[in-house]
Amino acid sequence: MSQMAKRSEPTIQRVSVRQVRPLREQVLRPGEPPERSVYPGDDETDTFHAAALLDGRIVGSATVIRQSPAHEAIADSWRLRGVTTLPEVRGTGCGVLLLRAVTGYVASQGCRYMWMFANPPAVGFYLKLGFQIMDGVQNVVPVGAPHPLMWRLITPADVEQPLGGPSPLA
Ligand SMILES: CC(C)(COP(=O)(O)OP(=O)(O)OC[C@H]1O[C@@H](n2cnc3c(N)ncnc32)[C@H](O)[C@@H]1OP(=O)(O)O)[C@@H](O)C(=O)NCCC(=O)NCCS
Repeated sequence: MSQMAKRSEPTIQRVSVRQVRPLREQVLRPGEPPERSVYPGDDETDTFHAAALLDGRIVGSATVIRQSPAHEAIADSWRLRGVTTLPEVRGTGCGVLLLRAVTGYVASQGCRYMWMFANPPAVGFYLKLGFQIMDGVQNVVPVGAPHPLMWRLITPADVEQPLGGPSPLA
């Protein structure tokens, strides 16, 4: 039998905002002032910051904040922000694990819709995970193409098992 090195699997933990900001700064807003990685609602007690940990290192993050868009059709929503994985782990399932964790959390909060303004290169990723593009609603950003509003219906079936104990990084 061949001896193959066993690859570590990422785990998802609820962490503090302090733990996800460095990744936001590094991957989502390189070269921009750190305050651009601070989102309104980051410090609310029901805001959920998820981190993907691999060998004790944060390699991905996602945040959900109770915040509805101006768009009436999806009132009672939670906003997804700061979704990112390090380039070296992309394509290994971290993004899906993060999305599953935040989706499970908002479902447990009785949320009806989750939404975000999607970075255009990531639209295909969100489509795979059941998000839809809302026609004609975009966020115009200072640099790059406008970000379409994407949304997903949340149902009780999205509730997951609770995440494991306190973060080892807390
Ligand atoms: C978008 C992002 C978070 C995806 O993370 P990831 O760790 O690569 O995701 P996964 O490995 O879990 O990929 C899950 C599936 O989605 C696919 N996928 C990933 N990125 C994709 C993309 N941009 N377009 C289409 N499909 C994509 C993968 O191929 C995989 O498909 P498979 O299950 O058929 O193999 C990551 O590419 C990223 O950080 N991008 C830069 C930051 C960014 O744009 N974030 C979004 C802000 S709105």
